[in-house]
Amino acid sequence: MALLPQLTRRLGQPLFLPAHGRGAALPDGLRQLLRRRAGVWDLPELPALGGPLEADGAIADSQRSAAAEMGVARCWYGVNGATGLLQAALLAMVRPGERVLLPRNVHRSLIQACVLGDLRPVLFDLPFQSDRGQPAPADSAWIERVLQALPRDGAPIRAAVLVHPTYQGYANDPTAVIQRLQQQGCCVLVDEAHGCHFAAGVDHPLPPSALHCGADLVVHSLQKSAAALAQTAVLWLQGERLDPVRVERSLGLLQTTSPSALLLASCEEALQHWQRRKGRRQLLQRLQEAAALADGLRHSGVPLLSNQDPLRLILHTGQAGITGLDADDWFLPRGLMGELPEPASLTFCLGLACHRGLKRQMRNHWQNLLRHFPDRPPLPAFEAPPLPLVTSTAQSPTQAWTAEHQLVGLKDAEGCIAAELLCPYPPGIPLLIPGERLDRQRQRWLERQQLFWGDQIPDALSVVSGG
Ligand SMILES: Cc1ncc(COP(=O)(O)O)c(C=O)c1O
Repeated sequence: MALLPQLTRRLGQPLFLPAHGRGAALPDGLRQLLRRRAGVWDLPELPALGGPLEADGAIADSQRSAAAEMGVARCWYGVNGATGLLQAALLAMVRPGERVLLPRNVHRSLIQACVLGDLRPVLFDLPFQSDRGQPAPADSAWIERVLQALPRDGAPIRAAVLVHPTYQGYANDPTAVIQRLQQQGCCVLVDEAHGCHFAAGVDHPLPPSALHCGADLVVHSLQKSAAALAQTAVLWLQGERLDPVRVERSLGLLQTTSPSALLLASCEEALQHWQRRKGRRQLLQRLQEAAALADGLRHSGVPLLSNQDPLRLILHTGQAGITGLDADDWFLPRGLMGELPEPASLTFCLGLACHRGLKRQMRNHWQNLLRHFPDRPPLPAFEAPPLPLVTSTAQSPTQAWTAEHQLVGLKDAEGCIAAELLCPYPPGIPLLIPGERLDRQRQRWLERQQLFWGDQIPDALSVVSGG
């Protein structure tokens, strides 16, 4: 029984998610609730409380006022993360056998929804930043090329998904892209798991929230980009393209019948916090401190990559010839706990708590890291994944997932059809999805990825037998 002591252990600077920074930035109402007699708040769906799918009760009222404050038609709180709400949203938009346009940096939850609902993904590639090995958001010229490259035959493409911002905080203004996809007949879902604070409307040059750019559905993770507890999220719906009844049926299919009242209360508190003057002032202060911290670190020689969300700091370890995974291993025991180690970078989530002394700590740790891994040449430019602009899978993900499968060595996998996701986590972006056939170039590229991702890329893949 070693779990409880782990929860209260000292961990150094919490530069990871949830964004409340181990409680430091929890809104006052939630903090007070947690100080009440332990467990009083753990209630079932009593009539006065209701649940996210009930028409009456405090939760329904709370969702109605959150939607009104955001200026949208409906919203639903979720207690199975952004994962659960993204899956419900996608299954509401697309019927079995229909197609959905997904970016290559889609979170694995949406591929899993394709498996669950027998949806046919059409995947589009993204601009690639070869100095760091990360995708960048698509602009409207890019999306125009994607639309030109779509297959002309087959089932209709009913929906499209965008990721805005990315885990690392890359974002643009998605208005034109959303409009173009809607003109094409798509209902647009934006995975804004990392960008709830974009919608808070504070006086800071953050990118716009997709909610204010006309998206039909948007999912916010309230633990990643607001100050709620882990597992919380909210799904927003606006416009006429999707009937809310379909969303509710889909939510009912996936969600627990016993949602935690504490988590639901934390959804309300996190959203309410930014309606209040104190909460808005705190968010603005955090954004300003974060921008000043990044400037200060750059001035003292710490290589940070540029992005659009000040609350994400991307340390460019590759510039010093060090992988983000090695840097993370080295920082962790020294009390600097990042969120997202990748081959050329380590992303720190500053979250919504105040971090005193962080500039000095990061600068010192960076200098000590350089002494530990001295005089390395920068990592060479990363090779873009060898993918066509648009790909359909060789089999449907459902077919591939449910087929007889077998393990095949990665080196022998050329020509095979993947039966499962291949997906380093974090960031949870699949490198290969069920139903995709591995051509020679892709098989070779995956083998080379082992050099960077280590055992996150296994030596053997689960592939469809005889596929
Ligand atoms: C872009 C993106 N979307 C969705 C999710 C899923 O969020 P959750 O862990 O809250 O289910 C993640 C998780 O990392 C993510 O990075």
